[in-house]
Amino acid sequence: MNKILVTGGAGYIGSHTVLLLIKAGYDIVIFDNFCNSSSESIRRVEKLVDKKIDLIEGDIRSTEDLQRAFDTYNIDSVIHFAGLKAVGESVEQPLNYYDNNVNGTVTLCEVMARNGCKKIIFSSSATVYGDPATTPILESFPTSATNPYGRSKLMIEEILRDLYISDKEWKIVLLRYFNPVGADSSGTIGEDPNGIPNNLMPFIAQTAVGKREYLSVFGDDYDTIDGTGVRDYIHVVDLAQGHLNAVERIDNFDEVMTINLGTGRGYSVLEMVKAFEKASGKRVPYKIAPRRAGDIATCFADPSYAKEVLDWEAQKGIEEMCQDSWRWQSNNPDGYRSESSNI
Ligand code: NAD
Ligand code: UFG
Repeated sequence: MNKILVTGGAGYIGSHTVLLLIKAGYDIVIFDNFCNSSSESIRRVEKLVDKKIDLIEGDIRSTEDLQRAFDTYNIDSVIHFAGLKAVGESVEQPLNYYDNNVNGTVTLCEVMARNGCKKIIFSSSATVYGDPATTPILESFPTSATNPYGRSKLMIEEILRDLYISDKEWKIVLLRYFNPVGADSSGTIGEDPNGIPNNLMPFIAQTAVGKREYLSVFGDDYDTIDGTGVRDYIHVVDLAQGHLNAVERIDNFDEVMTINLGTGRGYSVLEMVKAFEKASGKRVPYKIAPRRAGDIATCFADPSYAKEVLDWEAQKGIEEMCQDSWRWQSNNPDGYRSESSNI
């Protein structure tokens, strides 16, 4: 049976996608170097599906590591999550980001082509829209980047489009995620950031569980419903399902597909705080702080193209996002390093 290679499959979005793929009967192999994850996530997915998961420990920048995967398995397509994703860190370490994300993807595509595997689904981001002039955001909006992370995503999109122009046998889907949050309803896998979280949801969750004293709300003077930033939060299980729909349809596409994965609905920081307090029964103390450099006021998707071409739309609302994040956080206050004897 042909396998799907899932790069970055031990990470937050990758592990949820692997879970759904296996549940749906796909045969997969994870390829990860664990630079931002641990094998504990794989062990927990194995427990959920009651099955051993194939794994190649390797780096997408290494031709040898990748070739080992192709020599070991009959790989038909790739879902490519592997990459570095912290915006601030990318400003401090641009070369590391370009090397990991851009060089890694070039190396991956070279090895794929050499092995006759020409189907790839790539994790892009709403960050490629920069500061959009209007919302909701359509795929046709102009793109721009304000930091090396965002630029790496834009570069990879362009590289993959050029690859298709050079060889029309490639099947390429660029999925632009909005803000992934939540966790599998089992509460055993979830987002496990290193150190102090940069993103809102893990910060709120860690504040609710008592690991952080208070949330800093970055700016309350934006032109939004309550002055705080508005984003399109999407449940990670919905996001994972978007990949399954793309896998099912990829053979039918005869152009590079660029698709937003969002709910189409925006929530402010304070609305998220309130929803989380309701779901968790805990208080989330916060203080208004200055705006964060590079942040925009409002960002939410027009998800109608995903509906049209993937027959996909988000199913889970903000309550479920908060409940599932809370279940993961409260069961695993220290993420995958938490005591896991009962899991
Ligand atoms: P994550 O850090 O949890 O997962 C990424 C995985 O890739 C990790 O397991 C890491 O160990 C692995 N990895 C990184 N560099 C590697 C390399 N050189 N070789 C092999 N493995 C490597 O991140 P995530 O949130 O699951 O994001 C997955 C993808 O989605 C990333 O490409 C990210 O840029 C993109 N994305 C994420 C978000 C978000 O907010 N989480 C939003 C938009 C796009
Ligand atoms: N925020 C706070 N306090 C915090 C963290 C965030 O007030 O401690 C606010 C931000 O100012 C913003 C909102 O919460 O208004 C969301 O911030 P996140 O950092 O969670 O998400 P961003 O929209 O800034 O960016 C995220 C990823 C990007 C990705 C983008 C779109 O970090 O890499 O979503 O997918 F590109």
